[in-house]
Amino acid sequence: MNRNILFPQIKGIMHGGDYNPEQWLDRPDILAEDIRLMKKAGINSATLGVFSWSAYEPVEGEFHFDWLVKIIDELYSNGIYTVMATPSGARPAWLDEKYPEAMRVDKRGLRAHHGVRHNHCMSSPAYREKVSVILNRLIEAVGSHPGIIMWHISNEFGGECYCPLCVKRFQNYLADKFDHDIDKLNKSWWTAFWSHNYNDFSQIEPPFEGGEYSIMGLNLEWKRFTTWNMTDYMKHEISIIKKATPDIPVTTNFMQMYYGLDYRVLAKELDVVCWDSYPRLHNDYETLADTMELTAFDNALLRSMKKDKPFMLMESAPGLVNWHQFNKLKRPGIHKLFSLQAVACGSDTVQYFQWRKGRGSYEQYHGAVLDHLGRDDTRIFKEVEELGEILSQLDEVQGSVVNSKAAVIFDWDNWWAIDDMMGLGQSTKKYVETCVEAYRELLHLGIDTDVISSTDDLSGYSLVVAPMLYMLQPGVGKSFTEFVKNGGQLAATYLTGYVDDNTLCFLNGFPGDVLKELFGIVSEEIDTLYPSDRNKVIFAAGSGSVSDDDTRDEDHGSFCAEVRDYAEVLRTDIADSCGLKVLGTYESDYYAGTPAVAVKNYGKGNACYIGARTDSDALRKIFGMLLDKAGVLHRKMPKNTEYHSREYNGRKFGFFLNNSEETVTISGVRGYDILNKFTIDGSLTLGKYGVAIIDEQ
Ligand code: GLA
Ligand code: ZN
Repeated sequence: MNRNILFPQIKGIMHGGDYNPEQWLDRPDILAEDIRLMKKAGINSATLGVFSWSAYEPVEGEFHFDWLVKIIDELYSNGIYTVMATPSGARPAWLDEKYPEAMRVDKRGLRAHHGVRHNHCMSSPAYREKVSVILNRLIEAVGSHPGIIMWHISNEFGGECYCPLCVKRFQNYLADKFDHDIDKLNKSWWTAFWSHNYNDFSQIEPPFEGGEYSIMGLNLEWKRFTTWNMTDYMKHEISIIKKATPDIPVTTNFMQMYYGLDYRVLAKELDVVCWDSYPRLHNDYETLADTMELTAFDNALLRSMKKDKPFMLMESAPGLVNWHQFNKLKRPGIHKLFSLQAVACGSDTVQYFQWRKGRGSYEQYHGAVLDHLGRDDTRIFKEVEELGEILSQLDEVQGSVVNSKAAVIFDWDNWWAIDDMMGLGQSTKKYVETCVEAYRELLHLGIDTDVISSTDDLSGYSLVVAPMLYMLQPGVGKSFTEFVKNGGQLAATYLTGYVDDNTLCFLNGFPGDVLKELFGIVSEEIDTLYPSDRNKVIFAAGSGSVSDDDTRDEDHGSFCAEVRDYAEVLRTDIADSCGLKVLGTYESDYYAGTPAVAVKNYGKGNACYIGARTDSDALRKIFGMLLDKAGVLHRKMPKNTEYHSREYNGRKFGFFLNNSEETVTISGVRGYDILNKFTIDGSLTLGKYGVAIIDEQ
């Protein structure tokens, strides 16, 4: 793995956050204090201008950038670099007054009133034009400033628009996609059902409330279109920036598992991927470790969009947020644990929303490094300062990347299609949770896992897990087959390969495409259990390992796994079942004794089919078995701990986290403890929320 430094100007890991001086222009004393305190907290970057349009252009055509230049100068001369946002996250009042088409129309067909943010019609030519004007002026004013090290496009893209402009664009998009052949669309969407054939693309409406919702292909294509249109808009901004400043990297901030946009499509247009992380820490429904593991999954998802470089944690809350249902404070010590987890997962920045709390409006109680209290000896400030000191010591870690041997497949298309399908249990589909669970169990085995698309290149992985891959994109069956043939270990579950990319069911047995041949099974029926129903899978001895003399601490005798929610009835009487090894059978119901989990040797690898939703222990054992077959070292991590590693050119940094209040000991740790400055050879002890970064070279 090559070293890939994002910001050579920054020593250590970048430490910064959103800074809104435009809210304080009448308080030069506060602005001066900001600089002093940023330096004290070890802040080396500030994200400026996320919502500054009305400060730049208070009335149409009148521009004010002097204040901005002054701030960037001031920051720069104090060693603080600028991440320069484009101001299109929110529109000034004059713009909506004069160009109402910029305001979105909702699912009911109602146009929004002026206000709030992130609610523009992405198709509107007037809006795009006004953005071009302000962007060109902004670039002219600050584009060549040496303090600017990145462009941040708009803010947290999201939402949909149902205005006439967007409907027309949708129709054109469909015409292009289906080769201007309406019959092709009718066939792909199975519109003969309920007499829903279209005569012309102009008849097609998006799924308005009170309109068409019964065509799965239409619903899915509307989501794809929304991603396409948002990306098209974003490209409009990027092209203006790249024309003027081609060497400055661009990014836009994603929101973890955001449902509305396929982030991978947007990511292709960006130089660096970043995201805003606001987990519900200390909630009353899961352990801290559960919350942290979910955040690790999110980090992995974002990281895996550009595997050869670090990602950025663009926003996080130093203390609390104000928009969760309950806005609990981060407990002492959590800030460091949470931030270093992001670094462990491959982030080269820790950035906040926000530097200083604003006095009024919607986010006046949102956490910030600086409170209304205005002091630098608050608990939060001191924790940020302590972290700043740690980040400055991680210069050598900068530019290292995570080299995962395992991957979990998660596709947005698949998520939308599963959610929309009429069938199964409406409240128990849990696609995302199922992907997270697979990731978690690999984490419990001490394995770093990427979260990738089914269409990504699989060749670098030893183990690929494809949970509930209901929809198969073209070529995926072939890619899975090649992967296994060449020695890969593949695990798929119930609900694999039911439909093609237009949501049409495969004929002649699920999983479709060529996957029956690969897995050697056909799913004849899927049983949806009521939430309180349970069944079991009985695994034969040896199912949890390759060889009986395996000495790892997993149980390799026969064992039972609990089944809930879904159980497929599998047929193994097809020609391709030859050589199939049944690992587990159902314990009860009319399908008692029939295969539930099976593995087939194919080429140099193995394809394992898990036909039921089993408990996490069983998943871990199956993954352990497949990792053994692949020769990938793994170990059962002590409860509530995480291990991640980053590397480049033969150097390797191991990160150990204790996601609990209890002291834990992890054995087999070797290397130099960078933060505590000593060599360790054996057991590592981590106190409450402890973190160790080990130079493992
Ligand atoms: C998002 C936005 C920020 C701010 C924070 C609050 O991430 O990008 O502008 O509103 O949420 O948590
Ligand atoms: Zn629109």
